[in-house]
Amino acid sequence: MPIRQPIISLLGHIDHGKTSLLDKIRGTAITKKEAGGITQHIGATEVPINTIEKISESLIKKMNIKITIPGLLFIDTPGHSAFSSIRERGGSISDLAILVVDINEGFKDQTKEAIEILKQFKVPFVVAANKIDLISGWVDQKTNSFLKSIKNQREDVREKMDEKLYNLVYQLSEFGFDSERFDRVEDYLKRIAIIPTSAFTGEGISELLIVLLGLAQKYLEKNLKIEVNGPGKGSIIEVKEEKGMGRTLDVILYDGILKIGDQICIATPKGPVVTKVRALLKPSPLRELREKGKFLRINSVSAAAGIKVSAPNLDPCVAGMPLVVANTKEDVEKAKKEFSEYIGKVIFSSEGEGIVIRADSVGSIEAIIGLLKEKKIGIKKADIGNVSREDIILAKNNDDELNRVILEFNVNSPKEISNLAIDENIKIFSSSVIYNLIEDFENWRKGMEEEKKMNLFVSLVLPAKIRIIPGYIFRQSKPAIFGVEVLLGEIKNGYPLMREDGKIIGRIKEIQSEGSNEGTASKGQMVAISIPDVTIGRQIKEGMKLWTAISKESYKKLKELNNLLSEDQKQALNEIVEIKAKKDPIWKIL
Ligand code: GTP
Ligand code: MG
Repeated sequence: MPIRQPIISLLGHIDHGKTSLLDKIRGTAITKKEAGGITQHIGATEVPINTIEKISESLIKKMNIKITIPGLLFIDTPGHSAFSSIRERGGSISDLAILVVDINEGFKDQTKEAIEILKQFKVPFVVAANKIDLISGWVDQKTNSFLKSIKNQREDVREKMDEKLYNLVYQLSEFGFDSERFDRVEDYLKRIAIIPTSAFTGEGISELLIVLLGLAQKYLEKNLKIEVNGPGKGSIIEVKEEKGMGRTLDVILYDGILKIGDQICIATPKGPVVTKVRALLKPSPLRELREKGKFLRINSVSAAAGIKVSAPNLDPCVAGMPLVVANTKEDVEKAKKEFSEYIGKVIFSSEGEGIVIRADSVGSIEAIIGLLKEKKIGIKKADIGNVSREDIILAKNNDDELNRVILEFNVNSPKEISNLAIDENIKIFSSSVIYNLIEDFENWRKGMEEEKKMNLFVSLVLPAKIRIIPGYIFRQSKPAIFGVEVLLGEIKNGYPLMREDGKIIGRIKEIQSEGSNEGTASKGQMVAISIPDVTIGRQIKEGMKLWTAISKESYKKLKELNNLLSEDQKQALNEIVEIKAKKDPIWKIL
């Protein structure tokens, strides 16, 4: 069975150099004309194996790589929407990825987002630490090899290079990835290889290609075998209007064969669509562009390839959705069922508790759902497009206020909707970076949870211990007023007090210090307190110790909020439990 080219996505922050790197690879390939150059696809670029061999000849020999794959197929992705090209029904159409990072800037929002996506879809990747030519003092050594170039750089430049590189290593470690400069990596399975590159000078391009090749060979061979005669399977990376053709689909075909006249089933947010391929188009080679126009018509194509598909009834199609060749009635039924199930998992609405998600594409919804599931956050509704009035009502119907939330990704809901949300006390989070969206939401949730805990905490009777100071009885009864010293914790107006034998003597009415009503007193303070229904000399005596009386329910809550208690409050609580347990042993096991 033949092996197809691995599909490799370039991901990373805006302007860190994805397109430039691919241009440089393409440019380098074109200059090595005798090797066969490159093959242009729609939405993809193929570098055939003999071109890679030409560019990286000496390295291939040095690293002793035995080549079996026919080339590499690269997909560029714009910095702001990495999903549509990389994901496909919960998985990824990319076999490998290049995470492009500007070595001088380090990780930025979209870099982090790209890592989250790669992690979620388990795509092996390498890091291109790009723009090394901008490291101050760097001298272009006119070579495609980083290792050759670095040898000839000044000592201080090499040091700066290493410093910046280890900053990337550190940042990757925060995501749980172990990484190292590629030439210091022994096992590509355990460590992520970082390849310093310049899309400007071309330094590092040859190693980037080789490491990708090595990685592909080593780990992907098994998965890359394709059925030559099998039905084509692909993923839509773009939906475009073309002159004279109407709507067309730019598709990455990752498996099987696609032919003119094939019946195809396409997943869309409105349900599966079945149609027939009218034309298949690929870009015209440069020299034929004038005679034949932008595209060249072809009869069939086999994976892996980037191809434009023209067919009737493509209106509901959107980027990021799968399509499959289905020429028999059974195949159509099977595909329809699979696609309906898939869409139902991504676009849905339910009655239960959970938040609402609105996003621009199925791919981004799927990525968000994936991340929320990891964090065990319930979802009530997910849909494409702007937030609606119905969404706000749905969010409001949640019992838990932590769920009265709408996450909005890459959509712009109208002002009246955001005003309505404010009126209804619904929190809308909005971002064009998934990573930030989830992080903002989580931070808010944490804050709310803390606040809830604090509210509960202040509403509880907290553990405290006091002593009646001898000689400071101001009034015997109705109410009794006497001086106390706070030994542990803090007392407040309204706190009930108990004796060492567990008997409750009443509630504190007022706490006074130097004639003013203080309401509270904490450890070390001496204050006067009043208690209405008690008589000094009868229920309580001078010198007696008293503790705050805590109910079983409050005690259970206090145990949950234990980290909010001070050390002396914890000590008071222990003493209170001892006292309570003497009367009721259940306190020991609460
Ligand atoms: P988006 O597609 O918008 O996400 O950006 P991108 O990652 O494709 O970046 P692009 O390749 O468009 O490069 C952005 C800018 O950085 C351009 O002005 C490039 O010329 C410049 N640039 C890219 N790579 C390098 C490099 O290695 N060295 C230098 N000096 N400039 C670079
Ligand atoms: Mg770009």
